[in-house]
Amino acid sequence: MIEFQGVSKWFGALKVIKNISATVDKGTTIVLCGPSGSGKSTLVRTVNRLEPIQEGTITVGGTDIHAKSVNVNTLRTGIGFVFQQFNLFPHLSVVDNVMLPLRRLRQQSRKEALPTALLMLERVGLADKANSLPADISGGQSQRVAIARSLILKPEVLILDEPTSALDPEMVGEVLKLLRQLSGEGITMMCVTHEMGFAREVADRIWFLKSGELTFDAKPELFFSSETHPDVRGFLSAIQKNH
Ligand SMILES: Nc1ncnc2c1ncn2[C@@H]1O[C@H](COP(=O)(O)OP(=O)(O)OP(=O)(O)O)[C@@H](O)[C@H]1O
Ligand SMILES: [Mg+2]
Repeated sequence: MIEFQGVSKWFGALKVIKNISATVDKGTTIVLCGPSGSGKSTLVRTVNRLEPIQEGTITVGGTDIHAKSVNVNTLRTGIGFVFQQFNLFPHLSVVDNVMLPLRRLRQQSRKEALPTALLMLERVGLADKANSLPADISGGQSQRVAIARSLILKPEVLILDEPTSALDPEMVGEVLKLLRQLSGEGITMMCVTHEMGFAREVADRIWFLKSGELTFDAKPELFFSSETHPDVRGFLSAIQKNH
């Protein structure tokens, strides 16, 4: 579904993604982890062209997405993106936030978009919050609204950059539960997260980035085993200490 071939990226003189080649199979879930500043956000942002690349190619469903001929709006219709800070519009109700992609990218009227948006809210368990404003719902609920919005165009790929790290601990579970559900429904998912329980349970493969290099790409069984990469072992014990 997604293929990185020799991908490198610089910010000015700083090389932040270093010759990454890897594949994400259709319907699988990849968890990306690694130290702060290792390039996780930058890498996932290249997949829907929030960041340009200087070397290599990235194909999604066979299309070279950084080719000039690719329309960014069309590309983003097929790739949902969820940010750490939900980025909901504060002046719009929950249901109006969810229907925005239908209105902006499919030119639907509010009336046309409403049934789809309500169905999507039901799916994330928030039908009763449709008319609330973002300020009046919890962080976990806000992130579920953001996920509903990212799914409304039925993307084949869903990318999430630390979807739970801005949440209070008691809200993390409800968001992970939703992601677990989605992962089981066949969407192709790339998720940056340090939730190692989630990674162990849901990821088909875990990618470990270090200073812009993909130093380890393994199934969870190997990733968490004693045979793992030494860098991963150090990283895991650091996480454990923080907890
Ligand atoms: N817009 C930018 N301009 C210049 N440098 C940037 C920019 N965005 C990121 N960087 C640099 O690129 C490198 C990778 O950053 P990135 O945000 O991808 O890391 P990360 O792995 O997501 O870190 P974190 O775990 O803290 O979110 C870092 O050295 C960072 O300082
Ligand atoms: Mg990041």
